[in-house]
Amino acid sequence: MAEQFAELNPPPRLLMGPGPVDVDPRVLRALSMPMLGQFDPAFTGYMNETMELYRRVYQTRNRWTFLIDATARGGIEGLLVSLIAPGDKVLVPVFGRFGHLLAEIAARCRAEVVTVARDWGTVFAPDEIEDAVRRHRPKVLALVHGDTSTTMAQPLAGIGEICRRHDAILYVDATATLGGMEVAVDDWKLDAVSAGLQKCLSGPPGSAPVTFNERVVEIVQARKHIEAGIRPDDAVAENGPVIQSNYFDLAMLMDYWSEARLNHHTEATPMLYAARECARIALAEGLEARFARHRLASTALTAGLATMGLTLFGDQKNKMPNVTGVEIPDGVDGERVRAIMLNDFGIEIGTSFGPLRGRIWRIGTMGYVCRKENVLACLGALEVALRQCGFRTKPVSGVDAALAVYREAEA
Ligand SMILES: Cc1ncc(COP(=O)(O)O)c(C=O)c1O
Repeated sequence: MAEQFAELNPPPRLLMGPGPVDVDPRVLRALSMPMLGQFDPAFTGYMNETMELYRRVYQTRNRWTFLIDATARGGIEGLLVSLIAPGDKVLVPVFGRFGHLLAEIAARCRAEVVTVARDWGTVFAPDEIEDAVRRHRPKVLALVHGDTSTTMAQPLAGIGEICRRHDAILYVDATATLGGMEVAVDDWKLDAVSAGLQKCLSGPPGSAPVTFNERVVEIVQARKHIEAGIRPDDAVAENGPVIQSNYFDLAMLMDYWSEARLNHHTEATPMLYAARECARIALAEGLEARFARHRLASTALTAGLATMGLTLFGDQKNKMPNVTGVEIPDGVDGERVRAIMLNDFGIEIGTSFGPLRGRIWRIGTMGYVCRKENVLACLGALEVALRQCGFRTKPVSGVDAALAVYREAEA
């Protein structure tokens, strides 16, 4: 007889790495709602509501604000492959792993890619970016907002103006920041932005909310090729270089998400329900309140870590409020600490990549997970794990220090 596998029963975990994080139970409930046909008026109504909800989350009036059915990387690919024609110049300022990802995706779109780099743990000053734009004259500047690999957030205010001055399109990867810190798309003149659900929005991975403005629409529409079989008789002339991907073709996705409702892929119904609920919850809390909650957790967590005698990683002025990098002390086996936290406390924290591999842990306080009790539980577990691995923490407990921050905020 064929082997019978047990019913799924994942171990309970508190996910405090750099993402994914625990899914809000309200989003889990939304995922289990009944299926609808994708052209059912009830469903297209949900599609329109989802567009409006993400306009608010992105703080934009962009008509074109919708979901790409893929993880966050699919959102990046959709925007870049639709913007970049072979031979276009793309400038990527790299300050962590995800800058390299943008450069890699742009290269696969056969762009002429130019990178400028900074040490991991730092970010670019606007002047440095303007110098690079002036020197290289890119069609697209592709920039990561919060790079989870280093826990740094690149300030974006002023970068949009730089791009307008030099006639470049500004693409931003806000996967790790949307819903956790300000992403003011219109005020900051960000032309195209993508994100995912599995970080500060506390949803499952698999849906990428994107938004883009008329500067992007103009480029994309000039490359519009509607596939045979669904092409209306009065379709526009096909004169631009074809977008290299069918799945990620923004021009066809726009027809799918507009009143035209031109068939493209089959919408991932449960993911749309989840994305809609993620945005609804974020807006019901209020963006400002949500950002403040993330900042408070960061202050409490960093106070606790410092009190334990640990060193925080990177330029603290530009630290993301939702992920904290902490140096693994000399002589401590970082993987053993993580294993104790996972196996004895059920808490997952992150390791890192590239030059930071084995040098830092990354602790996420995102979305639904970003709560006092989780910050305290994580610090308590880390303190015990560190002691077990031979590290002498200071006599004052990090948990007490973090709790003191909360008490003061609550007073
Ligand atoms: C800044 C950033 N961009 C892109 C990604 C890729 O997201 P996904 O794994 O959902 O494709 C991540 C994931 O960690 C990220 O942190």
